[in-house]
Amino acid sequence: MPKHIFRLVVLILGLLVVAYFAVPFLTVDSFYRFGHYRANSVPEIAAKVPVYQTAKYCKSCHAERHAVWSAGSHKSVNCEICHGPALGHPQNGKLPIPKDTAKLCTLCHEKMTGRPLTQPQIEVASHSGGQQCIVCHNPHSPKISAAAVKVTGNAAAGKASAAVCAGCHGALGVSPNDTWPNLAGQNAAYLARILTAFKSGTQKDVAMTPLAQSLGEADIQNLAVYFASLSCNAAPSQKPAGNAADGKELAKNCAACHGETGAGANPAWPKLAAQKPGYLVNALKAFRAGLRKDPMMSGTAKSLSDADIANLAAYFSTQSCQSTK
Ligand code: HEC
Ligand code: HEC
Ligand code: HEC
Ligand code: HEC
Ligand code: HEC
Ligand code: HEC
Repeated sequence: MPKHIFRLVVLILGLLVVAYFAVPFLTVDSFYRFGHYRANSVPEIAAKVPVYQTAKYCKSCHAERHAVWSAGSHKSVNCEICHGPALGHPQNGKLPIPKDTAKLCTLCHEKMTGRPLTQPQIEVASHSGGQQCIVCHNPHSPKISAAAVKVTGNAAAGKASAAVCAGCHGALGVSPNDTWPNLAGQNAAYLARILTAFKSGTQKDVAMTPLAQSLGEADIQNLAVYFASLSCNAAPSQKPAGNAADGKELAKNCAACHGETGAGANPAWPKLAAQKPGYLVNALKAFRAGLRKDPMMSGTAKSLSDADIANLAAYFSTQSCQSTK
């Protein structure tokens, strides 16, 4: 045998002998006592402090969040599923706030065969249009519920008191002016809600506030039913400034709440189709600036540029107001 091969074999044998005698020093006593399973480690593991606390732990310091969470439909989703284990918090620092909610929320909500239907599921692409989920949903109480508004008015009585509105909103609810809104065919529940908001002062406008303050509850109901009953078909407004094709792309982000063409998705929320373009622009800018407040609209409007707003107005103002449903 050549000398260098002999040395190599001796080296390998030497290492094997060392490894054989080193094993007991490097393994835990309980190793292999019961086959592969380390029975002795059970009390050892049980003695560890759990890294996950419970929602009860958070309650003492984050009472407000806890209250929102426990009243909403996510109370079965523990805080630490989204915020990570809380051991050592707050002594060792803040817990992370999830940034990419499109990724986090779809872990549980993306439509999937075999996922139990009790867990609500969405087609992500068509549902959120690539936006973060928390633009529209509060992660601690995700249900978006349109405030239920009962509409019990009488159209004939509404017609009688609508004369004062005609100067600005048109005799038949179609405004003569590009920046004043049409009311004809608008959802009655929305009209009642927004008139009540003008009356109570949560929404303000130089023209509308004093008018609404003089209306009684019954007047509001009657006017809402009357204007909702009118035909929304109107002569097209003057050519809007924006580009409707670009607006159509952006409008996908609005479909969940206003319908694909703005013809309405929820009776408590406004239709946008065939609305006056100047009014749409003003309303969107007011939401963006925080002058008009709505938790759902402010998130959506925040990211819109002036050009986006003009394009959206061009798109919605030229759509047919007839509901497709
Ligand atoms: C002993 C009080 C205490 C408990 C219990 C506690 N927190 Fe906190 N938490 C704090 C403090 C203090 C801060 C830092 C607030 C700051 O600096 O704005 C904080 C910050 C956070 C933040 C980051 C907020 C931010 O603005 O960056 C998150 C998220 C959070 N806590 C989640 C939790 C969760 C989830 C639990 C329960 C598992 C929990 N906390 C339990 C006191 C507590
Ligand atoms: C479904 C996931 C989810 C669950 C469950 C959840 N959170 Fe959050 N939490 C978020 C997201 C996303 C944000 C950031 C968005 C926001 O501020 O609304 C956040 C924000 C926070 C913040 C920081 C808000 C700020 O900006 O100052 C605190 C504190 C917090 N959560 C505490 C809790 C507590 C306490 C619980 C349990 C009672 C809980 N969260 C349950 C997802 C979740
Ligand atoms: C760990 C899984 C999990 C994660 C992560 C999660 N959810 Fe949920 N979510 C659920 C379950 C389970 C329900 C159903 C709860 C029930 O009905 O009792 C639910 C309910 C909902 C609902 C329906 C509410 C209703 O009552 O109609 C919405 C909307 C929702 N989640 C949005 C979100 C959003 C947005 C996020 C991300 C911030 C998120 N979820 C993250 C498990 C999760
Ligand atoms: C543009 C606004 C918007 C965005 C962004 C959005 N949602 Fe929604 N989501 C809605 C509306 C509106 C509803 C219907 C609410 C209702 O009827 O109560 C809804 C309903 C849901 C439901 C309940 C579905 C059911 O069948 O009950 C789930 C789950 C949900 N969303 C998850 C998500 C997740 C996850 C994301 C992020 C990937 C997301 N949403 C982003 C507006 C939005
Ligand atoms: C002096 C002109 C004027 C008169 C008269 C007037 N309005 Fe208005 N109305 C406006 C203007 C301007 C707005 C848009 C306000 C804004 O930009 O927020 C508006 C907005 C509204 C809105 C909200 C529309 C939407 O889509 O959000 C309703 C509903 C409404 N008016 C109902 C009425 C009723 C009912 C009357 C009669 C009792 C009336 N208005 C009389 C000028 C008027
Ligand atoms: C999560 C639901 C939601 C989404 C998404 C949403 N909206 Fe809205 N929008 C609302 C609600 C609710 C109101 C009524 C607000 C109020 O009562 O003041 C509203 C009001 C409006 C108004 C005022 C209408 C009027 O008659 O006064 C305009 C304009 C508007 N939205 C445009 C948009 C556009 C454009 C998008 C998409 C870029 C969009 N919205 C996305 C819920 C939504």
